[in-house]
Amino acid sequence: MAGGAGFIGSHIVDRLLKNDMEVTVLDNLYTGLLENIENCRGKREFRFVQGDVRDFDLVKSIVKNVDAVFKRARSLGYAPKFTLERGMRELVEWYSKRVS
Ligand SMILES: NC(=O)c1ccc[n+]([C@@H]2O[C@H](COP(=O)([O-])OP(=O)(O)OC[C@H]3O[C@@H](n4cnc5c(N)ncnc54)[C@H](O)[C@@H]3O)[C@@H](O)[C@H]2O)c1
Repeated sequence: MAGGAGFIGSHIVDRLLKNDMEVTVLDNLYTGLLENIENCRGKREFRFVQGDVRDFDLVKSIVKNVDAVFKRARSLGYAPKFTLERGMRELVEWYSKRVS
């Protein structure tokens, strides 16, 4: 869950954990808060990675064994939005090639 420490992302994380899923949150805490995911910390199924979704190598290492990627990282302004979306598109393309 990219942006999992944010308002919407943290609620999705709660729901996924309630459904017995393993969740990794990637968040740079730009606007997100650790207190939003405080209730998840310590759970075996939960992992928090502080980092940026535009860090392609980091994202690639995190998604190695995942079934789904959610993006709730808020993009602020035109340039960051473009970069974020391009980064996620490249990631999805990389992942699609890997699983096909
Ligand atoms: N809150 C709403 O009512 C609402 C409604 C409709 C759509 N949205 C959209 O949903 C998304 C999330 O909204 P929100 O209210 O949860 O925002 P938020 O700011 O609470 O959450 C965004 C999260 O993304 C993280 N983040 C930002 N840039 C990042 C990056 N480069 N790498 C990693 N993490 C990064 C932030 O630290 C934060 O935790 C936004 O795109 C927003 O436009 C929100």
